[in-house]
Amino acid sequence: MSKNIKRIGVLTSGGDSPGMNAAIRSVVRTCAYHEIECIGIYRGFEGLIEGDFKPLSARSVNHIINKGGTMLKSARSKEFRTDAGQQKAHENLVKAGIEALVIIGGDGSFTGGLVFNKAFDFPIIGIPGTIDNDIFGTNFTLGFDTALNTVVEVIDKIRDTASSHKRLFFVEVMGRDVGHIALNAGVGAGAEEILIPEEDLGLDRLLESLRRSKKSGKSSSIVVVAEGDKIGKNVFELKDYVEENMEEYEVRVSVLGHMQRGGSPSCFDRVLASRMGVKAVETLLEGKTNFMVGILDNKMALTPLEKAVKGKTEINKELLRVSDIMTT
Ligand code: F6P
Repeated sequence: MSKNIKRIGVLTSGGDSPGMNAAIRSVVRTCAYHEIECIGIYRGFEGLIEGDFKPLSARSVNHIINKGGTMLKSARSKEFRTDAGQQKAHENLVKAGIEALVIIGGDGSFTGGLVFNKAFDFPIIGIPGTIDNDIFGTNFTLGFDTALNTVVEVIDKIRDTASSHKRLFFVEVMGRDVGHIALNAGVGAGAEEILIPEEDLGLDRLLESLRRSKKSGKSSSIVVVAEGDKIGKNVFELKDYVEENMEEYEVRVSVLGHMQRGGSPSCFDRVLASRMGVKAVETLLEGKTNFMVGILDNKMALTPLEKAVKGKTEINKELLRVSDIMTT
């Protein structure tokens, strides 16, 4: 293993996700293991521009593996999109003697990293952290599993009240552009219908499906709607539409929102984060750059960052079919 790099910076950027702290811990401890320095960069690219840096020792990341959020804080930085912002960031990195960056975040953060790499030839490795699971080159992103568990737990609770009142609930879950949370949590929670951006069910078929479900004797219905679904303008409009067309239903809406991003990471996310952190640092030490660390078929895998950013994740067709069968 090449030991040319002596100091690595780590930052979290974009929407936080459970498991980011576990990944920071892993990056820091892998650096300590290889006897190189690790510098924490606070508030993502904002902190890079402002020089908000702090050295992190193996002991400074004690007891964070179980914590949600990110101890390094996060931000969506507008200034980093400008040449001047990137210039300042680069000067700060050079001044601090940081020779490579580990970016924990989603595709927006990786795009920022790539632009930065092209401008300054600065070594970058990405770790995919987002609850949406929408990054090409990995079967799982950090936080997805935890978010699914959170959503399923909440829908189970909604089911209690829904069936007590024989109501129909639209439950909106996160997923700006993709339906991975909706599909997986929907199947896990036994939803009657799942609406995702990848599949346009159409309003008529939604009504048909709800009528069928009512007729078959179900005492409640839960429709899980991905935030990015296009069937209605939004989940409240869907409620109005169904109430206008199906008087037999009393409809309620629950928008789960940011609670899905919080909470203690699941064991799966903690283990994944630990594996990804080791792979990220060791990839840099091997002299490689511009890769994203992912997990494919339970093995650590490297995908060129450019591909990770440009590629699209596909909805799991087999799971879609399972969902159709389960709603019979
Ligand atoms: O990218 C993750 C995500 O949780 C999306 O599902 C959601 O649309 C978005 O972040 C919300 O972002 P913000 O916290 O900036 O409103």
